Amino acid sequence: AKNVGILAIDIYFPSTCIQQEVLEAHDGASKGKYTIGLGQDCMAFCTEVEDVISMSLTVVSSLLEKYKIDPIKIGRLEVGSETVIDKSKSIKTFLMQIFEKYGNTDIEGVDSTNACYGGTAALFNCVNWVESSSWDGRYGLVVCTDSAVYAEGPARPTGGAAAVAMLIGPDAPIAFESKLRGSHMAHAYDFYKPNLASEYPIVDGKLSQTCYLMALDSCYNNLSHKYEKLEGKQFSISEAEYFVFHSPYNKLVQKSFARLVFNDFLKNSSSVDEVAKEKLKPFATLSNDESYQSRDLEKASQQVAKPQFDAKVQPSTLIPKQVGNMYTASLYAAFISLIHNKHSTLDGKRVILFSYGSGLASTMFSLQLREGQHPFSLSNIVKVMDVTEKLKSRHEFPPEKFVETMNLMEHRYGAKEYVTSKDTSLLSPGTFYLIEVSMYRRFYAKK
Ligand code: ACO
Repeated sequence: AKNVGILAIDIYFPSTCIQQEVLEAHDGASKGKYTIGLGQDCMAFCTEVEDVISMSLTVVSSLLEKYKIDPIKIGRLEVGSETVIDKSKSIKTFLMQIFEKYGNTDIEGVDSTNACYGGTAALFNCVNWVESSSWDGRYGLVVCTDSAVYAEGPARPTGGAAAVAMLIGPDAPIAFESKLRGSHMAHAYDFYKPNLASEYPIVDGKLSQTCYLMALDSCYNNLSHKYEKLEGKQFSISEAEYFVFHSPYNKLVQKSFARLVFNDFLKNSSSVDEVAKEKLKPFATLSNDESYQSRDLEKASQQVAKPQFDAKVQPSTLIPKQVGNMYTASLYAAFISLIHNKHSTLDGKRVILFSYGSGLASTMFSLQLREGQHPFSLSNIVKVMDVTEKLKSRHEFPPEKFVETMNLMEHRYGAKEYVTSKDTSLLSPGTFYLIEVSMYRRFYAKK
């Protein structure tokens, strides 16, 4: 199989959301802390009628319907999620309800979990399958689904929720350059979920930022080495049109791209002009460790990187800023933003993606984009996803109602028995919702 990659995409996020400006005031944070400090505009969240299973049912049904894919033609289904609802039964098995109806139970794959990285693991599994000798000619389907919720405190504004579905096969408009991947895997306690009775993580915010940036450096180096071996020339940010990052919050994305520019500077790359070199010179002698701690370097590199950030990164920031951290779906929601904003100019372009999951697992990888053929074309993907309409038709909650929702969800997490309000007034048609949990068994319906 040639040009294996993503043929079709759809995204779903809850229509319920809270403005960061409103949350900021409610939390007593200084004005601008969430909007400028974290760089976030708005945050989506699930109410009691939605969860990671309902969101994934919604997005998979929608993708199959809108691209007219026969469910019989799916041969592998992989789910990435870090929102564990059951320690044994995978989310994938819930999605089988869609396929069993059509007599298709011959579908490989289960769930992948490691913080925000599970979606990338699922995606690689599907791409590798299509490229392998066990491929049976059918499509792969990848689902990233998460509800990111934090206990009250500084991490709460970095929540979010969404599900993304991606159809995988050959001759894709979004093709993997499978040789161009760099990974960094290590043991760290930056963000973890050891308390199985709670949906909330334990997070060392500062450490998680440093781990993220160290992983980014390492992946960039590994990918660059592979590129240099393959192509016989140095890799720099000039080799790709766009860079897309896992986006816990926008400020970290700004810092990440600046870090790549600093890496290029250290390699004396021609992608860094003379003025920039002059500004970064004072930091050339910092040790690696010092460079992660230096606020002055952070400031200087962000300033130097700004014009290239606006050109190469900014188009991918729309949904992450509007919806928040979507954990496994975050990187792909950023990529969707790029396609949404730039689809007509992406033909023949290389896009580099960086996936990070605390704990930690990370990979930087490369995609080659082409317009493609209907229905698997970039322009059709944009039409199907209809991001503008999805963002526009949302319902803003006041902070009191948001906190009330969080408290109710906290109470219900892991509960054996309850019936939801079944209030679907805020859901768009076609959305799946939770009706009840009975003997820990979950039941859903479609609006
Ligand atoms: N106006 C403008 N900017 C402000 C204001 C203000 N009024 N107040 C603060 N800021 C800035 C700060 O200067 C800082 O920016 P800087 O880093 O560029 O200096 C930024 O806002 C954040 O402020 P902090 O005080 O550093 O934030 P805090 O300690 O409250 O928490 C954190 C931020 C660590 C991101 C927290 O939200 C968190 O723990 N989130 C979850 C962990 C996370 O997302 N980690 C990322 C990788 S792991 C993952 O994906 C889950």
